[in-house]
Order: sequence, then structure tokens, then C-alpha cells
Amino acid sequence: MSRRPSLPRPATTVLAVVLTTGLLAACSGGAPEPSSSPAPSTSAATATPTATETPTPTEEAPPTSPTTPAFDKTALSVDDPASLWVVSDKLRPLEPVDYAPTDLVTPDVVHQNPPTLRAEPAAAVVAMFQAGEAEGAGSFQVQSAYRSYDTQVSVYAGWVQRLGQAQADAQSARPGFSEHQTGLALDISPVPLSCALQACFGDTTQGRWLAANAWRFGFLLRYPADKVAVTGFTYEPWHFRYVGVPLATEMHDTGVTTLEEFFGLPAAPDYAG
Ligand code: DAL
Ligand code: ZN
Repeated sequence: MSRRPSLPRPATTVLAVVLTTGLLAACSGGAPEPSSSPAPSTSAATATPTATETPTPTEEAPPTSPTTPAFDKTALSVDDPASLWVVSDKLRPLEPVDYAPTDLVTPDVVHQNPPTLRAEPAAAVVAMFQAGEAEGAGSFQVQSAYRSYDTQVSVYAGWVQRLGQAQADAQSARPGFSEHQTGLALDISPVPLSCALQACFGDTTQGRWLAANAWRFGFLLRYPADKVAVTGFTYEPWHFRYVGVPLATEMHDTGVTTLEEFFGLPAAPDYAG
């Protein structure tokens, strides 16, 4: 706590001026001015100094701009599959088509199948699940995360066999076109398991919390219900794509919900061929 002044006011004022002068000299790294050598008479320093006239760093600081700098949409590549901002859709295959990340790790989370993700989203998903639980949303598990090109071959073929190609293309990316292959995307389900990979996940407490809060951890609900014509995929409230906190925050703050719209890229409702 602060001490009560024990000296009479005039002495305190003198002491404050002396201390302030010494402190400023020390902070600026320079030697103290010799107190016995007054400045030349043309200087403003010839005026009798008083405590109130002594300029302070605050008074001399340039005015700060109240505006924040515009978000730089070119800061990271949208083409490089190793970029946190890579945009992968039906018109933008990963290049190379068999790209595999080099920094895959296994996040310590509840899971259906042992997941791997790139290091940054792996740390982010652990923090996100912990926050969701702490904020009353319940528990989460990872349904699916990184999938290699070869795994996506099997996954996509399975859906084609089950639903036919047209229906499969509405919900499963062809090999080389899946965000899961970047190591930046994952599918999330509640614990205990319900509505797994179904639209009703969006109505669970976990699904609602994720839709509202995933941006805080750098994730984007990548396939919104009202943007099928842009993304080419049906509503997937379980599929989250890591883009990093700065981009996720910017998209949240500006209300832009797809990467295509944010970066001014063409809508990708269908494959080119
Ligand atoms: N379900 C998403 C679109 C994928 O297969 O990558
Ligand atoms: Zn997914």
C-alpha cells in the first residue's frame, strides 16, 4: 500500500522534482544532466522550472490512431496446402493432390478413432474442448481428423457405394479435395455419442456451443446450412476447420461465413469435371 507523506508539502514537491528528473535520465539510458551548469539563455530551459511545467513522456507522446489496421487477406497463401488459410473446395484440389502434412500429432482428447492433426489445431482443439466443458456445453469427442489421400479414397468410395455418386458428392469430398487431408479439419461429436455426423448435432448443446464459440479457438464451421451453393457440401455442423485465431476472429467480426466469400474466390457447388 502507498505510504503517507511525512514531509511538509514544499519539501515533498522538491523531492518529487529531483526524483522525477533522476528517474527520467535513468530510463532514457543517458547520464544525468549536471545540475550546476544552466542551459544557454536562448533555451526554454531558462524559464524557472516548476513541477507542473516539467514535460512528461505522456505529454510528448504522438497521438495514437483510434483505428485498427485493416486485416491483410494476403498475409498467408490460400493455395499452399501447408498454409493455415488454404482454401480447398470442389474447384480447388490440393496441390500436390497427395499432399500430406509433416507436423501431425495426436491431441489428448476423447475420440472414436485415434485422431491426428497438425500441431496448431491439435493444441487448439484441446483448449476448445476444455473451455466448452468449463462453460457448461458438456463433453466432446473427435470423430475423425486427419485423413490421408488413400484413406479418403476408401471413405469416398464407401459413400458412393452406399448412396450413389451424386449423393456422395454432396457430403464427402473426392480424394485430393478434402480439408481432412490438410490436417486442419476435424469432425466433432458429443459425449455420450449422439447425432454423430448428422444435422441434429447442430441442435445439441455441444453443437450450439461450437457454432457460437469455435472462432475463439481459431476454428470455422466450414459447411453452414445456408451456404451449400458456395461450399458445394450439405450442412455439416460437426465439421470444423482450423484457420487460426486472427482469421477466425475477422470472419466472426465481419459476419462472413465461408472462406470462398471472405477471399473473393468462386463459389464451388460442383467439380469441374
Ligand atoms: N465431409 C467433407 C466435405 C469431407 O469429406 O472432406
Ligand atoms: Zn469433416
